[in-house]
Amino acid sequence: MTLEIIGTGKCLPKAAINNQFLETVVDTSDEWISSRTGIHKRHLASKETTASMAVEAAKQAIENANINAEDIELIITATISPDYAFPSTACMVQQAVGAVNAVSMDLSAACSGFIFAINTAYAYIRAGIYKTALLIGTETLSRHIDWADRSTCVLFGDGAGAAVVKSSKRGLIGLEQGSDGQKGMVLNCRYPEVSNPLNQRVAVPGYVQMEGQEVFKFAVKKVPECIDALLEKEHMTHADISWYLLHQANIRIIQSIAKRLREPLEKFPSNLEQYGNTSAASIPILLDEVHRSGQIKKGDKLIMAGFGGGLTWGACLLEWTID
Ligand code: UT7
Repeated sequence: MTLEIIGTGKCLPKAAINNQFLETVVDTSDEWISSRTGIHKRHLASKETTASMAVEAAKQAIENANINAEDIELIITATISPDYAFPSTACMVQQAVGAVNAVSMDLSAACSGFIFAINTAYAYIRAGIYKTALLIGTETLSRHIDWADRSTCVLFGDGAGAAVVKSSKRGLIGLEQGSDGQKGMVLNCRYPEVSNPLNQRVAVPGYVQMEGQEVFKFAVKKVPECIDALLEKEHMTHADISWYLLHQANIRIIQSIAKRLREPLEKFPSNLEQYGNTSAASIPILLDEVHRSGQIKKGDKLIMAGFGGGLTWGACLLEWTID
């Protein structure tokens, strides 16, 4: 038994800012942002929250899957920007969609979060514990950005994507994932330090901090290695793969990975131009778009691959089963 994706959904905040707007916020230029990242605009939450976008994406995915919310046995929400420390975003989604029979939890693996969520659901489904799961990537990273730091504030956007998966004979073929805590600090976001009666400190919020070039080098090395290891394990080659849905961080990263894999860029759909880097949400948002546009056809093999904070990375290889 494996899992298949049977429905998808997404939600972006209504408001967006383009690169020209950012020129009025920090010392940057549309030319720098476009040429170094490929990003032209990003959606930012105002009324929306991490949970409200997750709920909207989840509702769309449930409708698209044509199931009842009561059929869902597991909800995993990948996020590093929840609205509450607890309850988990997954429990908030459970309540809002009426998934009364689900066990619900959040998963923290930064931009690899959605891949880790799929791979975790796969383990539960393969073990025969659950049959139907709702998987979500949702972020309001704009809350963790220092809007005076031009090296990070131009990169990220808010949004959510979701998929419903269920046990099946066809679908997910294999997976590969890993972490390297030793390099964790090259991309980090700290909570305020502990302040209590024994140790009184001013609670200063932490912001996303990144050694951009280190993360870039990590991504362009690790992702192709991970994809090739996965293909080798499953006795498949690049020729078998129709689509690569990569985490949407930087168009230069995607171009470089395509080059290292010796694969045409046309196999790498991208939407980061419009949304920026939405962390755990980027892959499910892209998945929803290629699914609803009819770009992916039944029988196509696709690889989804994420990389990011932790450091973490992961990929899964699927056969698309929706008509
Ligand atoms: O989701 C996973 C996590 N994130 C990533 O995958 C991001 C990976 N890294 C990257 O995408 C790239 O490293 C960045 C886009 C973040 C940066 O691009 P880069 O080509 O590596 O630029 P850099 O950091 O080497 O900076 C080059 C110059 C510096 O100026 P000097 O020292 O050469 O005078 C920066 O201060 O560009 C400057 N700079 C900017 N200039 C205008 C940095 N940010 C900006 C900016 N506007 N927004």
